[in-house]
Amino acid sequence: MSRTTTSRTAFFAALAVVAGATGTAFAAAPGAAASAESVPCSVDYTVQNDWGSGFTAAVTVTNNGAAKSGWSVQWSYAGNQQITNGWNAKISQSGADVTADNESYNGSLASGGTVSFGFNGSYSGTNAVPATFTLDGVTCNVDDGGTGGDTGGSTGGDTGGSTGGDTGGSTGGSTGGDTGGSTGGDNGGGNGSRVDNPYVGAKVYVNPEWSANAAAEPGGSRIADEPTAVWLDRIAAIQGVNGGMSLRDHLDEALAQKGSGELTIQLVIYDLPGRDCAALASNGELGPDDLDRYKSEYIDPIADILSDPAYAGLRIATVIEPDSLPNLVTNAGGTNTTTDNCVTMKSNGNYEKGVSYALDKLGAIPNVYNYIDAGHHGWLGWDSNFDPSVQEFAKVATTNGASVDDVAGFIVNTANYSPVKEPYFSIGDSVNGQTVRQSKWVDWNQYVDEQSFAQALRSSLVSAGFNSGLGMLIDTSRDGWGGSARPTGPGPTTSVDDYVDGSRIDRRIHAGNWCNQSGAGLGERPTAAPAAGIDAYVWVKPPGESDGSSSAIANDEGKGFDRMCDPTYGGNSRNGNNPTGALPDAPVAGHWFSAQFQQLMQNAYPPLP
Ligand code: GLC
Repeated sequence: MSRTTTSRTAFFAALAVVAGATGTAFAAAPGAAASAESVPCSVDYTVQNDWGSGFTAAVTVTNNGAAKSGWSVQWSYAGNQQITNGWNAKISQSGADVTADNESYNGSLASGGTVSFGFNGSYSGTNAVPATFTLDGVTCNVDDGGTGGDTGGSTGGDTGGSTGGDTGGSTGGSTGGDTGGSTGGDNGGGNGSRVDNPYVGAKVYVNPEWSANAAAEPGGSRIADEPTAVWLDRIAAIQGVNGGMSLRDHLDEALAQKGSGELTIQLVIYDLPGRDCAALASNGELGPDDLDRYKSEYIDPIADILSDPAYAGLRIATVIEPDSLPNLVTNAGGTNTTTDNCVTMKSNGNYEKGVSYALDKLGAIPNVYNYIDAGHHGWLGWDSNFDPSVQEFAKVATTNGASVDDVAGFIVNTANYSPVKEPYFSIGDSVNGQTVRQSKWVDWNQYVDEQSFAQALRSSLVSAGFNSGLGMLIDTSRDGWGGSARPTGPGPTTSVDDYVDGSRIDRRIHAGNWCNQSGAGLGERPTAAPAAGIDAYVWVKPPGESDGSSSAIANDEGKGFDRMCDPTYGGNSRNGNNPTGALPDAPVAGHWFSAQFQQLMQNAYPPLP
């Protein structure tokens, strides 16, 4: 896996010069937000877990009106639900009436922005979703699972044309948009028996091989029963590597774990020709021209097995080729992060043909849900990368036999370390007249965290022709950033850099660092439908498996040595020439790395018991 950053560094020197112009454009953006068709706000209320006498719920509010510096959400229960404790809002209840007010750290709610909070409650009888919600006294629509459709709302972003890193200039980030699609029902996308969100009402497969590795670690039994993805990272993985479980073994075990309920098994499809073209750590077995082998020796046999009627009762979520299409967008020409290998893979078309083929073949199986990898906010979050990425995804999903009906959704943050949410600062904040976008850390990005990026990307993808039931996944396996270095509130407002650096829970040296990050912790435990438009938080990268070796190690997997995994390396244009922040003594990518596993548990957030 590689996590390469963007081309923005090349433009950085120019940014300071046009900062004034950018500020003007930025300030003007909210005026564009209120689209005529939109309601003033929308609320997604999701019961994430219900054990008959109690429940956990997540509420996400989208503000389609003017920006707010504080907010209050209210609803009434029809039943006897009683909230016992909450988070990310001050929640009070009087009889059936509930009020949720902002915490000190999340009061600012941009136009087109969202805020989420959650709580536990008890009840008896029925646990119905409240009928009506208000935001500051104004009635919102309720998102009951994708029936509302897209409420529009391109909220601008940069409207100027001369803002350097934002070379897209005029298109902005669509941050309002569709809040539907996360809570059950048929997706209406022509996929017959598929449900809208395969994670709702289903267990998720626990990989016995990862689970055994986790359980063998001191303290590891606390998480050994969490679901993680099965990586089909080479042709031999279909039959099982070195006596390990084959794909059929996993599917048979999945049937056993399923019992009479529903179960979703997560498979990573990861063996493209010329794999990992912008980095070396996860280079694969197939050469740049091996498209035929990819089809006949890898995708076809996988499709044959998955279409076995014995497995028709499983929900199979596939993660399609991490990093591949983002690499074509940012690293395949005209940027200071371009590599020869990515130029080759763009010009021979084999990433695009391979991904289209996988989507088509796997998408033809009615119980398969394809999720295309979409990088992360610290890679595609700049306008100059965001819009071309949407176009690239749309192209690949509609050529070479693939169609948008082959796509259930997209996944962000696969094997990366970007937080789901930065709780103590947001993209709309400014300090002494400077927007946080001007800080060194944010560096003109349009997003500061994965959930806001995923939701905006979802809206843009739907606008570009993907089905309105599209759902996003976020890999939260290693983005927790707990432990003693975690800030407990916003940073000082002495300067925009002090503020951002003091606020951010992401403690990386640079957001372009991607290999075995020092200080990282386990993130949110896998959760279905945690927020509007998000199908699930998932653990795709299995915690404890290395991102790459910290020095050259001979291997027969095609893997190279990438110095971004070397803690003594001073970096390159991809990470602003900063140290890598990688842990020392790491084994080859995918191999067990005990020290990392221990660190991830130590710095878990939410913390482990
Ligand atoms: C990396 C490795 C791959 C492994 C995966 C999960 O991408 O290259 O072999 O399966 O991580 O750990």
